[in-house]
Amino acid sequence: MGMGLVARAPGGPQAMEWVAVPDRCPGPGEVLLRHAAIGVNFIDIYYRSGLYPWPEGPMIPGAEAAGVIEAVGEGVTDLRPGDRVAYVLPFGAYRETRVVPAERLVPLPDGLACTAVAGALLKGLTAQYLVTASYAVQPGDTVLVHAAAGGVGLLLGPWLAALGATAIGTAGGPEKLALARAHGYAHVIDYRAEDFVAEVARLTGGAGCAAVYDSVGADTWRGSLKCLRRRGVFVNFGQSSGVIRDFALSDLAAGSLTAIRPVLFDYVASRPELLARSADLFRRIADGTLPRDVVRARPLRDAGAVHAEMEARRTTGATILLP
Ligand SMILES: NC(=O)c1ccc[n+]([C@@H]2O[C@H](COP(=O)([O-])OP(=O)(O)OC[C@H]3O[C@@H](n4cnc5c(N)ncnc54)[C@H](OP(=O)(O)O)[C@@H]3O)[C@@H](O)[C@H]2O)c1
Repeated sequence: MGMGLVARAPGGPQAMEWVAVPDRCPGPGEVLLRHAAIGVNFIDIYYRSGLYPWPEGPMIPGAEAAGVIEAVGEGVTDLRPGDRVAYVLPFGAYRETRVVPAERLVPLPDGLACTAVAGALLKGLTAQYLVTASYAVQPGDTVLVHAAAGGVGLLLGPWLAALGATAIGTAGGPEKLALARAHGYAHVIDYRAEDFVAEVARLTGGAGCAAVYDSVGADTWRGSLKCLRRRGVFVNFGQSSGVIRDFALSDLAAGSLTAIRPVLFDYVASRPELLARSADLFRRIADGTLPRDVVRARPLRDAGAVHAEMEARRTTGATILLP
């Protein structure tokens, strides 16, 4: 019997209770995993708070984890007890042990620690599909990223720089700006203190950006559209400040813009795509493009405190939870 954090109904961080959660033997095609580290993501807050559809019954938040296989079910031939693996799934990871479908597991390369991967798989796969698929970044592009000092933001900066793009990052406050500057962003803007639309116009000589990666949503989307060049791409991949409610398709007419609202799970739905995007991510970690130094660790049972800090905009980079 392992322990885990269970929310019985949508609520604040205190809605998650530290309780015993039953284990079961892995069935056909399944694997029993002992988590070594669990990543914290903003999506955990969307589920816990009830912004995203509540699953039936009590819910365990947590969308990514890495660990060691304890047992495999019938028909699992390519994985063995002792193998180190990681996964992304919408919720269910805030627990010590878990039964997971084998086809969702990504084997970890030698030399890459579970603690590094648990903070980087969901955020890194997101950065990967954002820059290759939502808008395929070209060398010489100028691109705007909001929340540049956040978990996804600190991976997007170096990735964009490696692709030969000029990344402009927004963040709240001088410490976050300095961190973004140290992680690939050529220019940084304090969007809590400055008018980011005017600043982007100044930085691009009025030309605007090829794409805006906007995970802040309600507070930023109107300004984001104004930061785009003619036929630029607005990529709204989150809503940390609230859902965009009053968008009209005609808002895209000024400049013949494109808007997309992508979700990671649609970019890793098939096993070949999951493995190919993971391989690209692991390559970027191995060759030093992406940092391994941005992970903070906290005990699993303190996840509620981490949620409260994230919602209060007090975190930077990735946080992992240790069971
Ligand atoms: N669609 C997808 O596939 C996908 C996948 C992964 C993540 N995401 C999204 O990407 C975003 C980043 O995720 P993350 O886990 O790396 O989180 P994060 O960026 O580390 O944290 C969110 C950041 O958003 C900024 N923010 C702006 N307004 C906020 C508000 N009212 N309340 C709270 N934060 C606010 C804060 O930075 P400042 O203080 O600098 O403003 C905060 O640190 C989230 O919106 C998440 O949902 C989407």
